[in-house]
Amino acid sequence: MAAAMRLLVTGACGFVGSTLCREVRAARPDIEVTGLDNFRREGSRSNVEPLRRLGVAVTEGDIRDPGDLDALPAADWVLDCAAEPSVLAGVSGSVSSFDVMDHNLIGTIRMLEYCKRHGAGFILMSTSRVYSIAPLAALAVEVVDGAYRPTRFRSDLGLTAAGIDERFPTAPPASLYGVSKRCSELVALEYAEAFGFPVWINRCGVLAGAGQFGTAEQGIFSFWVRSWLAGRPLSYIGFDGRGAQVRDCLHPRDLAPVLLRQLAGSSPAAAGDGLDPRICNFSGGAANAMSLAQLSRWCTERIGPGHVGAVPRTRPFDLPWVVLDCGRAGRLWDWRPATAIDAILDEIRVAAT
Ligand SMILES: NC(=O)c1ccc[n+]([C@@H]2O[C@H](COP(=O)([O-])OP(=O)(O)OC[C@H]3O[C@@H](n4cnc5c(N)ncnc54)[C@H](O)[C@@H]3O)[C@@H](O)[C@H]2O)c1
Repeated sequence: MAAAMRLLVTGACGFVGSTLCREVRAARPDIEVTGLDNFRREGSRSNVEPLRRLGVAVTEGDIRDPGDLDALPAADWVLDCAAEPSVLAGVSGSVSSFDVMDHNLIGTIRMLEYCKRHGAGFILMSTSRVYSIAPLAALAVEVVDGAYRPTRFRSDLGLTAAGIDERFPTAPPASLYGVSKRCSELVALEYAEAFGFPVWINRCGVLAGAGQFGTAEQGIFSFWVRSWLAGRPLSYIGFDGRGAQVRDCLHPRDLAPVLLRQLAGSSPAAAGDGLDPRICNFSGGAANAMSLAQLSRWCTERIGPGHVGAVPRTRPFDLPWVVLDCGRAGRLWDWRPATAIDAILDEIRVAAT
């Protein structure tokens, strides 16, 4: 009988890590899942017992600490979901710039050393924030139905009505967070080359759903709906305080089909585009995109009236329109998002009520 596949999930008690642990256990109970988390994310300890009940071996430890990693069992695959995930991390709030690099880049390198030692494959949860800020900030936009819409696309740069695709530039500035992830992607690909283990870079846009703890840095959709429910003050920040800025969102459980194929050793179809097939966008895309003003409208209809203030001055990393194009994931992996934005928002609402 073949030995069971062993999967190590870092950041297992965070939003994405815990969601994917649950999905893997449900779809493939034969996969042995170990979860590592340092519980830096407030609220993450609440996932320990539910995950243990599903058979996930949850361990406290830090991806930056070689001693913690030495104590772990060997694995066939690492799914790296441990990070400091905020675009503002390092420039505002309590997280230092060094901490962003330490958790996100040094932590990744430690995990790659683990993969090298055990001959394990590596799957990085990367982000749309690797894409350059300047061309996105300079985008010409108009407001339609309370939402920005680009008036001119740059298909030469990989920016179309479907969103930002994998051709889009990644040169800095892209935020400390974005660059820490871009460096992680590059180091992972270099380790793959040098030591012959498989690497997949799953670049995700905004991820949203129940299981987020409702803080702003964990994602705007959950933060907004939960704040609305709790009657906490909200503001449209930047862009003249109109709330027209647009983001798309994806439920992380929608990643499970592609994750399971990656774990099973499947190769993607040929895209014939000359780009590295190991790097791929996964997102809700244009159909799952909404502005803050539209999100407020959704909250008013589903929850009740609320008040949103305005802080007109735009911050350095605020962008008018960030929609991630996942069309290539369709061509490579026959993958598309399954959960509509309305269902995602409703899941957040129900879980927080
Ligand atoms: N949430 C999103 O919208 C989004 C979008 C794109 C990519 N991602 C990526 O997905 C991954 C998970 O994000 P999330 O939203 O679940 O964040 P999260 O904060 O909910 O989860 C991260 C988890 O990692 C743990 N952690 C942090 N540093 C650690 C360390 N050094 N050692 C061990 N554990 C550590 C935290 O305690 C937390 O439980 C991150 O890599 C993030 O960059 C998230």
